[in-house]
Amino acid sequence: MAVIYQEKSGLFTLQTKTTTYQMKVDKYGVLLHTYYGPKTDASDYSYLIMPADRGYSGQPGDVQDERTYSLDFYPREYPVYGNGDYRIVGMKANLKGQVPALDLRYHSSRVMKGKYRLEGLPSMFAEEGEDGVDTLEVVLKDRYEDLYVHLLYGVYEEDDVITRAVRVENCTGQAVELKRVMSMSVDFTERGFELVHFYGKHAMERQMERQALPHGITEISSRRGTSSHHHNPFVVLTRKDTTEDHGECCGFAFVYSGSFKAQIEVDQIHQTRLTMGINDEEFCWKLEDQESFIAPEVCMVYSEEGFTGMSRRFQKAFYRRLIRSPWKDRMRPILVNNWEATYFDFDREKLMKIARQASELGLDMLVLDDGWFGKRNNDNCGLGDWVVNEDKLGCSMKELVQEVNDLGLSFGLWFEPEMVSEDSDLYREHPDFAFQIPGRSPVRSRNQLVLDISRKDVREYVEERMFRVLDEANIVYVKWDMNRSIENVYSALLPEGSQGEILHRYVLGLYEMMEHLLERYPNLLLEGCSGGGGRFDAGMLYYAPQIWCSDNTDAVERLKIQYGTSFAYPMSSISAHVSVCPNHQNGRVTPFKTRGICAMQGAFGYELDLSKLSDEDKEEVRRQVKFYRENYQVIQSGDYYRITSPWENHDVTAWSYVAQDASKAILAAVFTDLHGNPVAERVRWRGLDEKAVYEIDGREYTGAALMHGGYLLPVPQCNYDSCMLVAVRK
Ligand code: DGJ
Repeated sequence: MAVIYQEKSGLFTLQTKTTTYQMKVDKYGVLLHTYYGPKTDASDYSYLIMPADRGYSGQPGDVQDERTYSLDFYPREYPVYGNGDYRIVGMKANLKGQVPALDLRYHSSRVMKGKYRLEGLPSMFAEEGEDGVDTLEVVLKDRYEDLYVHLLYGVYEEDDVITRAVRVENCTGQAVELKRVMSMSVDFTERGFELVHFYGKHAMERQMERQALPHGITEISSRRGTSSHHHNPFVVLTRKDTTEDHGECCGFAFVYSGSFKAQIEVDQIHQTRLTMGINDEEFCWKLEDQESFIAPEVCMVYSEEGFTGMSRRFQKAFYRRLIRSPWKDRMRPILVNNWEATYFDFDREKLMKIARQASELGLDMLVLDDGWFGKRNNDNCGLGDWVVNEDKLGCSMKELVQEVNDLGLSFGLWFEPEMVSEDSDLYREHPDFAFQIPGRSPVRSRNQLVLDISRKDVREYVEERMFRVLDEANIVYVKWDMNRSIENVYSALLPEGSQGEILHRYVLGLYEMMEHLLERYPNLLLEGCSGGGGRFDAGMLYYAPQIWCSDNTDAVERLKIQYGTSFAYPMSSISAHVSVCPNHQNGRVTPFKTRGICAMQGAFGYELDLSKLSDEDKEEVRRQVKFYRENYQVIQSGDYYRITSPWENHDVTAWSYVAQDASKAILAAVFTDLHGNPVAERVRWRGLDEKAVYEIDGREYTGAALMHGGYLLPVPQCNYDSCMLVAVRK
């Protein structure tokens, strides 16, 4: 068992392959957090809590004159608001309409084989009865009322991952107002952590930033209704000296796709607390008597092997334990998407021209993006009218798909199910389906409004329309887009006083819709998208094995975007396409070869008019397609290494993949600057078999030489030149 419960001393020790996590029920029944870090034994680590006179900070009512006992200083497993802990808390709730105050004490616990599941929410899974995966449930109860808080822990021994979630159960006989329910809290009693997080904007997501933590509260959050382009729901606490290969760091990934909040507080004696969960800013959940509320899952990894060790664990755990799609191990179709090729300006002939060229060049799929339905000829109208525009296509969807299939290509289709244009039949018929505050004009973004999919009738309406289209034709892939932040939420059906529930109900509605889609079409390849990577989070991976990483298709800016994304998410989930130059987002010109190398970092495809390519570029497409087919297994499921950082090395960004048995490795490098009298760019391969001999371009090297001595990259011959090297074990 990965969970050790020592009843006498009140200790719960969770053990994974390389980490230990511990909590303790103290003599007052308060659940203390006593350890999270490198693997150690099940000793009682509460000896590390320093006893000192804390009279000025307050003691809980039943503690009386024990002045060293203060919840404002003690490390706690799930701190709550209103009992003398003035730091950030896990939970805040009103009982009986009073000022929020809770006092949670230990009630009971149980250990179960396997992994808990969360109804209606994505969460990591395990096989039925699988060894090495255990659930611990610790139940806390308010000292005065029958309000129970179930702390859930999923312990994955081999994967080296611990998950957390919380279920609040109301048995008080009356409604309770939940004002904040974080999914987790963790206390580190040492000083000196740094924070790594991933900020961004539309077309420039997940930019890595590392900073020292000041005293007080640092917050990384979104209140946009989506996890957002602006901050990713993934943060890392790291030691100052941690690097890619060495040192300690601890990552927290929220398995949720809506508004979130991660807060880190460094307190008066330099201790660090981190909480993560649904953003409480607009949150207020009325929990009726005998009802439960579930706070979504957080996945935690502690690594002593630098950022590489941490990322590896996240990537593998998400790949094995979170992505359910039957597509996860299959080679993903190499597709061509018509968005950047045509935008809204297409007809059957234009699409077929691209399709014929795609087939000739050996691609697998044509994806028809925005603009195929209703009157959607620009982005000001038509959303919500999911009726095929046969006038524009010149045929039915069935006929178009058949024609594409006849070329040996499969077919994918774009939807934006959560949105409505005011200029649409749907809006004219059901204006109340959209979020709008009565009497106020709504905030528009891309000239569209958000459908209130917290409502069952709205979900059913959209699903029915989507299913009609999908039933009609042989569509094997859906790109599910979502192109704006949510604002002015007001649901016409929710009673007054419950509007603080909408944003979370919206996300639950979204998950239900995706579940229905996958139940109806179990073999569908679902690609997530939100104006590019505005909803690139672990929650989405439960439904979509790949996510469009960014609307920015410039190979050079993608280096930083994909670098940041790789810290938590599997490379196979990063959807990336080759587009034309000058690039449509920033005007940069890069070699076709380099665009291919960058796009092959994940789920690979093209987004340009293939029929307009020069013969030379077409030859390059053939080479890229061949290379990807021959090597997709290493790229999709090999170990990924960030070799150089685009933030530190301004001349070259390099990365590599190594097959699980180290028999093959691929190293890619893109030169981001040029110099006269060039400097030697030496990279060290990683993850190879030291004793083995590898062949690269007809020359032999030992694994040790490549990893310790390194390898001299060729001198770049032009702006943004690149290379892709394959090392094969002899
Ligand atoms: C945003 C997506 O990220 C793009 O790829 C494209 O699908 C457009 N939306 C279509 O409106």
